[in-house]
Formats: sequence, structure tokens, C-alpha cells
Amino acid sequence: MNGGTGRAYKGGMRAIVATDQSAGVQGLRLTEIDHPHAAENDVVVEVHAAGFTRGELTWPGTWTDRAGRDRTPSVPGHEVAGVVAELGYGTSGLTVGQRVYGLADWTRNGTLAEYVAVEARNLAPLPISVDFTTAAAVPISGLTAWEALFDHARLQVGQTVLVHGAGGGVGALAVQLAHHAGARVIGTGRAADRDTVLDLGADAFVDLQNDQLGDAGPADVVLDVIGGDTYRRSLDVLRPGGCIVTVPEPPPVRPENGRAIFFVVEVDRGRLAELASRVGAGTLNPVIGAVRPLDEAIDAFAPAVRVKGRTIIKVR
Ligand SMILES: NC(=O)c1ccc[n+]([C@@H]2O[C@H](COP(=O)([O-])OP(=O)(O)OC[C@H]3O[C@@H](n4cnc5c(N)ncnc54)[C@H](OP(=O)(O)O)[C@@H]3O)[C@@H](O)[C@H]2O)c1
Repeated sequence: MNGGTGRAYKGGMRAIVATDQSAGVQGLRLTEIDHPHAAENDVVVEVHAAGFTRGELTWPGTWTDRAGRDRTPSVPGHEVAGVVAELGYGTSGLTVGQRVYGLADWTRNGTLAEYVAVEARNLAPLPISVDFTTAAAVPISGLTAWEALFDHARLQVGQTVLVHGAGGGVGALAVQLAHHAGARVIGTGRAADRDTVLDLGADAFVDLQNDQLGDAGPADVVLDVIGGDTYRRSLDVLRPGGCIVTVPEPPPVRPENGRAIFFVVEVDRGRLAELASRVGAGTLNPVIGAVRPLDEAIDAFAPAVRVKGRTIIKVR
């Protein structure tokens, strides 16, 4: 058993913190906070690149711990790619100096910081063939796409899947995973993303603002990352017995003849390793529209111009 190894950190580190839920992005600031503590089975990761989700300032876990108690100031960002700096008591399977990537807990300080403490089981080794910036775009988007398509919808070879927001984080990876699994893929989104989505392997593209959703034909599976009206319109193109998986919010209405599933992504180290291996092999490519330093992370939460795909924060 490991009794805890690596550098013993003293002093502070730079991090983005959220203190005021009602202030939204305006309430974020870049400041100095304490180094994270490596608890049992934890890894402290020296963050090289971090991913965040714009909507996370509305998630309960950003503001409260698992007992529902206020945990501000909290550090946002949940995706991390970096190097193991320290192991907690009893942590096994990873070593100091190893390249890793994965997903930080929803209810602990996150990855928009120089260091983050993550449970070891939520990290996987990162092959040298995958750079940190690319890796940081994969954990939430890749796991969500995989779980939605294969665990929840049970997508089969030859079926048709409609992937909404196909130029975005989850959608871009879902298009590629579904295409490689032998499905017919219809991607949707904004007109500006048409070529990107077709290049990722989609068989057709529907511009949600100007095309009819039904024009691309019925779907056995719908992956909805937009919700609201887009979710409702999707029910008309779902084949009888089909499955619609929605991730922004629980389904407001269910199909008359089919399944509707909402879930929150779960981490699986083996699956993280599989995703990294596909990225390394060049068969899975996240769409990264912007890479910005930690100093600009607050701006990146509310960019002045539209960013295609993911924005990644390069911490070092
Ligand atoms: N439940 C879970 O576990 C889970 C996991 C991952 C993500 N999510 C949620 O899923 C959602 C999507 O995440 P993401 O990372 O894929 O976001 P994203 O990178 O912003 O991708 C969404 C894509 O959909 C497009 N889009 C949004 N509204 C549209 C509309 N009305 N018409 C046409 N295109 C539209 C966006 O374009 P624009 O950028 O131009 O709007 C973007 O290309 C978020 O709400 C996120 O919180 C939930």
C-alpha cells in the first residue's frame, strides 16, 4: 500500500473560483488558493489542460458538497489532462510523474487551477500520442456520447441515429463513435457546422434553423444535447420503439411508443482508456475551437464570438 507520495505542497496556487451563484460568470475570479489535499485514494494532478462546461455554474455540485452544504469558493472545470504530482494514502495503479487524464468530482474543487485532487479511479493513463489539450476535451464529451449511444440507447449496426448539436462537444464525438459502430448518422446543428459534421462521418446534416428535421428520415435513436423545442421536434422523427437520450435536462414529455432517457455521465477508467486509445489512433477527434490560458478562462465562459466545438484552458 502506498503511504502517500510525491511533493508535499506548501503555499498557494492559481485558480478560478466561483463565490456567488447569483452573479454567474461575473462572479468568477482568478485568485490564489491553497494547494489541494490528497485524501485516501486521491491523485493530485499537475494540470496541463482543463475543460469546462459553460452551464456548470448552474449545477448544484458547483455550489454544494455531497451533503448539500455550501462549498464556495469553488473551482469550476471538471476535465483534466496532466501529470501525477502526488498520491494520497493507499492510492494504487498510478505513479508520480505519469501522464493522466480524466474527470474531477462534481462536488469538489475542479480543474481550472494549477493542481487538482481527483480520485484515482476517475483517471486513466494518457498515451504519449495524445497531447494534453486534445485529451482535456474528451472526458465529459466522450463518456457522455459513449454512454448515451451504447449503454442507454443500445445503438446497433445499421440503425439510424440523429445526433443534435453535432458540431459541439458531445455531438462531435457521438457522430464519430456512431459512424465507427456502423450506424447511419444524421447530424444536426447550426448551418456553420455542416461541413465539419459531414467531415466527422455523418451521412447527412440538418440545419435546425432552416431545414425540416424529418427530411433526413426516421431515426431509431436520437441523442439530444439541446433540449426544449429541439427535444419536442425530435419525437416526430423517432421510429416506433426507438430511444431518445437527452442530456441537458430530464425529458419534459415522453414518446408515445419508445423510450426517453436522461442521465448524468459516469466515469469508467477502462472506457477513458479506450477513448484515449482511439484519439491516439486518429479515429476519434474532438473539435477544439479555442485554446486559452488560465488568465483568460473567465472570458472563455462567455466568449464575445461563437466558438466552434470545445474551448480548452491551457494551464501550463
Ligand atoms: N447529463 C450529462 O451528463 C451531460 C453531459 C455532457 C453535457 N451535458 C449537457 O449537454 C449540453 C451540450 O453539451 P456540449 O458540451 O455538447 O455543448 P456544446 O459544445 O455547446 O454543443 C452544443 C452544440 O449544439 C448547438 N446548438 C445549441 N442550441 C442550438 C440550436 N437551437 N440550434 C442549432 N444548434 C444548436 C451549439 O451551437 P452554438 O454553440 O452556436 O449554440 C453547439 O454546436 C449542455 O447543456 C451540457 O451541460 C450533460
